[in-house]
Amino acid sequence: MTQVGDLTVGGVLIECDAIQRRVEELAAEIDAAYPSLEQPLVLICVLKGSILFTADLARALTLPVELEFVACRSYGDATTSSGSVELVKDVSMTLQDRDVLMVEDIIDTGMTTAFLRKHLATHHPRSLRLVSLLDKRSRRVRDVEINFRGFDIPDRFVVGYGLDVAQRLRNLRDIHVVEVPESAG
Ligand code: PRP
Repeated sequence: MTQVGDLTVGGVLIECDAIQRRVEELAAEIDAAYPSLEQPLVLICVLKGSILFTADLARALTLPVELEFVACRSYGDATTSSGSVELVKDVSMTLQDRDVLMVEDIIDTGMTTAFLRKHLATHHPRSLRLVSLLDKRSRRVRDVEINFRGFDIPDRFVVGYGLDVAQRLRNLRDIHVVEVPESAG
């Protein structure tokens, strides 16, 4: 058990072998979904959490890919639609007429994805789709379309495989649940 402040990193929710198998399946789905690529598929890694998933997915794909990175910051109460999202780092290339795939580790409220879709659409890509390893759909505030989904997960605080607790433990190989004390929850 690892303790981070009041939080206890608990049992494994998804083992690394299951993650790797699902990444391979998602890559096969994505390979099949782009039969007529004109240029390499642009994978947009949404920092920081998606970094490990993006790295594994990129290597599992047989399609030609290019890598891009964006970073967002959420403000306000993310559990309500009054939360807002700001771009901290934008893409550094033009996406016009490109096939673009946003790569997320988790969709929670949907606020980040809703914001990014709107922003990236202003670049006039040829297509704009989303792959998310995890979907915590019980927390959704904004209705977002996930084109490729890894796992549905319950409304638990999770860490590992890119997901952090206070910026730590992103490098855990498995995805764990975090126990939040009742006084903090
Ligand atoms: C996480 C995740 C998504 C976002 C999803 O990022 O990587 O980008 O939250 O949440 P939402 O659906 O409620 O918008 P986070 O803000 O924790 O930053 P990080 O990836 O740098 O840890």
